[in-house]
Amino acid sequence: MFEFCASVLAANHAHIARDVVKAESLGIRRFHFDICDGHFTRDIFFGPQLVQDVRKESASFFDVHLAVYNMAPILDSFLNSGVNMINIQFESCDAPGVLINKIHANSLEASISFSLASDFVEMQPYLETVEVVNLLAVNPGYGGQQFRINVLKKIEMAADYIHINNLKTKISVDGGVNEYTIRDIIQAGADIAIAGSGIFSGDIERNITVLQDATKESLQHKEG
Ligand code: DX5
Ligand code: ZN
Repeated sequence: MFEFCASVLAANHAHIARDVVKAESLGIRRFHFDICDGHFTRDIFFGPQLVQDVRKESASFFDVHLAVYNMAPILDSFLNSGVNMINIQFESCDAPGVLINKIHANSLEASISFSLASDFVEMQPYLETVEVVNLLAVNPGYGGQQFRINVLKKIEMAADYIHINNLKTKISVDGGVNEYTIRDIIQAGADIAIAGSGIFSGDIERNITVLQDATKESLQHKEG
């Protein structure tokens, strides 16, 4: 079943739990926390305490996206933060397989993110080992960028591979998700759309309603 995930990077940082609870009241059950170190990414965002504190207010599915260098110790600091899934960034990580094993050994789901420049061949080996493959449609580290359509081909290739090999792996697309891009994202075969400004910028209720309406329409079109 297709699902939205709200990226709290675009929430009001003085009221993140409030915005999460508001999105939950409108049907969102997945939340994405970008962890940015100011080295791999331009800016710095979010440590484990924020996740722990928001967890006290919400029972939804949380994933942390580690857009950082020196990933192993940072990953360790999130293992007991109340997250459901840890998402490692392929391009800034030396030994993805070791980290995926560590995430699974701690009974959490694993995801791996691929930047715009990475090709399908690079992601293919991981499709059988993670629960979610995350394809970035923008540059990592900040919100509000334009959706880059070259991600659509990669979604289609991943969806074909998953179908042909009878895998359960889900495909998420991260960044630039809004009422104008959601139709193409669904059509290409994504299972999860991670939206920051598309959900939290402006009127949250209006944004979620518009996205849900466009999704219904696209799913009917796809199935019909
Ligand atoms: C980009 C992040 C996204 C970001 C998306 O580094 O991985 O999760 O929050 O923001 P929007 O939806 O505004 O493009
Ligand atoms: Zn992200």
